[in-house]
Amino acid sequence: MQSPDVVGMTHQTGPSMPVVRFREPADACKRVAAEIAALIRQRAAESRRCVLGLATGSTPIRVYRELIRMHREERLSFFNVVTFNLDEYYPIKPESAQSYHRFMSEHFFNHIDIIRSNVHLPKGTVELENVSGYCRDYEELILRSGGIDLQILGIGRTGHIGFNEPGAKRDSRTRLVRLDTVTRNDAVKDFGDLDRVPLLAITMGVETILQARRIRLLAFGEHKARIVQQAIENRISSALPATFLRGHRDAQYLVDYDAAQCLPPSFFGTPLQ
Ligand code: PGA
Repeated sequence: MQSPDVVGMTHQTGPSMPVVRFREPADACKRVAAEIAALIRQRAAESRRCVLGLATGSTPIRVYRELIRMHREERLSFFNVVTFNLDEYYPIKPESAQSYHRFMSEHFFNHIDIIRSNVHLPKGTVELENVSGYCRDYEELILRSGGIDLQILGIGRTGHIGFNEPGAKRDSRTRLVRLDTVTRNDAVKDFGDLDRVPLLAITMGVETILQARRIRLLAFGEHKARIVQQAIENRISSALPATFLRGHRDAQYLVDYDAAQCLPPSFFGTPLQ
């Protein structure tokens, strides 16, 4: 793995945010996977469970691939792991090709030894009148599991974390939300046609995410450069939900050079050897 650049710290409006820049997305993903594996093993040694907050999308796939490799080659067991996914389209059937249930099974859960009853994703099939109660139960389940130890995040081009789109409040909890048009357009690559992209989703709230003890946000590629810069430099507000992460005591961005290209070079200091 290449050494990452030294951590940059924001010095703009509001608290700082560590950003670690990697030459390749794969290096950043290996770093996060190694951190997760260390946490799982530490907890297993203490006979405790490890609660992970998981994300979908193209960004974290390599984290899951690396964890699967560690399971196969390094005997990393997920026996003590409990997972909560950030979000799911609504409505959607779990077996549907675009559902996050299916995504997580295919990219991760089918390949590891996790206990299926320890896996949680918001359900896209709950009756509309039961959704708010269902969302409260999801929150309750996270609390009863002891809270999320480490949350993986991506960032959407709207600045969303989970599906907390612009306008989402700092104290929001798991709930039904309307997807931003930019987000729906980005999902056309999966659904084939804008009309087929759901208008709604169930997502953990900003507050739910901020309660995770560690947060690791991954962003790769030129198309994320502008929003990464804004998330780090803009005023902290609902206009860009990812800015709320700057108040967290252990949140970190892991980015590649392309996603970091709008940040000033001085931000990163001297590369480590
Ligand atoms: P992506 O999505 O990983 O597919 O870029 C990130 C997000 O929308 O959070």
